[in-house]
Amino acid sequence: MERIIVQKSLGLNGNIRVDGSKNSILPILAATLLSEEECIIHDIPNLQDVRVMCKLLEVLGAKVERLGKNTLKISAENITTCEAPYELISKMRASFLVMGPLLTRCQNAKIYMPGGCAIGSRPIDLHLKGFRYLGTEIKSENGYVHAVTKKLVGNDIYLDFPSVGATENIMMAATLAEGETILENAAEEPEIVDLANFINSMGGNIIGAGTKTIRIKGVKKLHKTEHTVIPDRIEAGTYMVAAAATGGDVTIENVVSSHLQPVIAKLREAGAQVLEYGDKLRVISDGKINPVDIKTLPYPGFPTDMQAQFMSMLSIAIGTSIIHETIFENRFMHANELSRMGVDVKVEGSSAILKGSSKLSGAKVKATDLRAGAALIIAGLLADGETEITEVFHIKRGYDNIIEKLQNIGANIRYEK
Ligand code: EPZ
Repeated sequence: MERIIVQKSLGLNGNIRVDGSKNSILPILAATLLSEEECIIHDIPNLQDVRVMCKLLEVLGAKVERLGKNTLKISAENITTCEAPYELISKMRASFLVMGPLLTRCQNAKIYMPGGCAIGSRPIDLHLKGFRYLGTEIKSENGYVHAVTKKLVGNDIYLDFPSVGATENIMMAATLAEGETILENAAEEPEIVDLANFINSMGGNIIGAGTKTIRIKGVKKLHKTEHTVIPDRIEAGTYMVAAAATGGDVTIENVVSSHLQPVIAKLREAGAQVLEYGDKLRVISDGKINPVDIKTLPYPGFPTDMQAQFMSMLSIAIGTSIIHETIFENRFMHANELSRMGVDVKVEGSSAILKGSSKLSGAKVKATDLRAGAALIIAGLLADGETEITEVFHIKRGYDNIIEKLQNIGANIRYEK
């Protein structure tokens, strides 16, 4: 079984280039189904989740062609089926994002109910509420969600929670609907803006993406386009935390610093220097970490996808930190694994209390989700002795070449088959 072996590596130093955003490319790939013409997309990270989404597009009838290491051409001229199979949906929850485009193209969509995962039940009620408001009948049968519509018609929709996926799915379903849709209490993440820009570049008419109210005016048809995906703010944040925690001096290239304000603010509060210039961020730290309190919130609040990484860094802070997770009901699975490395952390409901000043020691640990895996790597860089991380497939879902990138800035880390 493949493992990642990490030895203590303080003072990381050098440059790391961040790839295109996983959480942007996945909805954008789904959105290529909205057009019958070809879409060329650049700066696509080479990730397992991207391969699963591309496989799903091909199963649905699209042609997917690799034009270069990080460039794909997708042509969805013919959709040959409106059914997304269990084996692909069960691999990746984001596959459910093809629901909106399939309803648009086929007025019909049959998708296996995406399961929960380690971090929570992750229901889809808000996605389905939006589709119903746009004129869709929805039935659940044998684990499938089956949606049928005579015609998608724009409507006013209020999201009870600013769900990223529901905002994306409804935005896609409204793009070619008749009339106008107003989506209230929408998610404001940068990945929503990137998706809206992508759809508008095909001839869509979406305004307000990145704010709580998004207005989608239905258009008749979409044409071809070429688009470059925004940088991955969570990949960037992960390496920033690794640099700060190990007392390093690392320059992260290909970032949009306005997407990282909460992370930059918290790293500064923790005592790191963060210098912003153009599309680069430089993180300098002496390795002495101040305790900080974290509360995860929808964007522009502190991102839940950075919570685990901060827990690793705050385990060596001089004092107590409190982390409050408000987005997912079970996103502290990494706390158990970290405590096996000597981290003094106590989980009470949706909060974790970190005593700090932990002396971390290497151990055999397992990744429980993508960001938890990254947190264990950071902890391994701080721990005396050797850390062995299993279930590394989680990490490969969201971090392209993480081992090589960390080796290039001095980390003693390797894969072991
Ligand atoms: C996206 O997931 C991201 N994934 C997640 O990143 C990220 O953690 C999450 O947004 C929050 O920022 C992708 O973009 C592919 P949500 P998504 O719908 O869309 C509840 C990573 O590590 N909810 O905003 O699934 C839900 O249970 C991943 O890269 C409903 O109740 O997140 C959760 O508690 C992990 N009903 C909260 O909203 C719904 O219909 C946030 O979920 C939908 C969601």
